[in-house]
Amino acid sequence: MSNLGSEMKVKPGSLLSIGDLTSEEVVGLVRRASELKHRLSEPISSRPSSWKSGSVVALFYENSTRTRLSFEQAARALGLSFSAMEVRNSSIEKGESLRKTSETLSNLGYDVVVLRHGGEGVPIQVDRWISPAVVNAGDGCREHPTQALADAFTLQESFGGLEALRGKRIGFVGDVLHSRVARSNIALLSSLGMRPMVVGPPHLMPKYPRALGVEVSYDLDSIVGELDVIYLLRLQFERFSDPAAIDPGSYAARYQMNARRLARLRKEIILMHPGPMNLGVEVDGAVANSSVMLADEQVRSGNVMRMAVLERALGRGGE
Ligand code: CP
Repeated sequence: MSNLGSEMKVKPGSLLSIGDLTSEEVVGLVRRASELKHRLSEPISSRPSSWKSGSVVALFYENSTRTRLSFEQAARALGLSFSAMEVRNSSIEKGESLRKTSETLSNLGYDVVVLRHGGEGVPIQVDRWISPAVVNAGDGCREHPTQALADAFTLQESFGGLEALRGKRIGFVGDVLHSRVARSNIALLSSLGMRPMVVGPPHLMPKYPRALGVEVSYDLDSIVGELDVIYLLRLQFERFSDPAAIDPGSYAARYQMNARRLARLRKEIILMHPGPMNLGVEVDGAVANSSVMLADEQVRSGNVMRMAVLERALGRGGE
């Protein structure tokens, strides 16, 4: 069984990049998340006892609402213990290094470390230092694998199964330069037979956008009508060296999803956004709250998909 692309040595159970997974594992995770979704609607007393051992710690050096809390929800739903280490209140503030912090979590006996960090590749390094499984909850602009898995789950539910994704066109629109969500999704959705592309202004594209391995467009209006899914990306102002150089008004004029552009889309169009949204910039309020926007479903998918990812991290594929 070959994986989707990574050549790096990764501990069993760790998830650092989409390329760590085999196609079979992707299908298995989607199937398992689907089963878990149904199990969650059953009374707690009928849930399997095998869900009840293991400990998870979240170590987030960057802010988060959805990812951190959905890992917490996922761990608690599986009956696992969950701790969130507040970087601000920890010995990191006294100068303790990332390595020593990670080793301390390992010595404290956690089974899984869920790590978000601004440095690209940091979870790969931490995975080599410690024995618990490491799950990447976002590293800089590189990867956000559990977001991509949750998005694939949302898409297959919306289209009626994984097979139905084949040939569908999805455009990642906006701040492609800083988007770990787009990078993980491009790798994952391509492997599932979708046809991703990126759309945005040249200054929000990587230096060599074609190295992403997908079609590139700088003109949203010329391609919106051809897409099955439009995935709006957040302008990540906090990652720009000079946020004042970005003009949200001129960006919105060419790339914002608003009622005028929505009217030109296919009737069955699906819109996605990983959150949090800059309302009035990449999307206007009416479209953000419209029925074609799946952002709320994406959040809900995060819970069940992260349950499946935690089970994998603990070496359990099911009940
Ligand atoms: N999509 C996402 O990663 O959101 P948070 O930053 O709120 O976790």
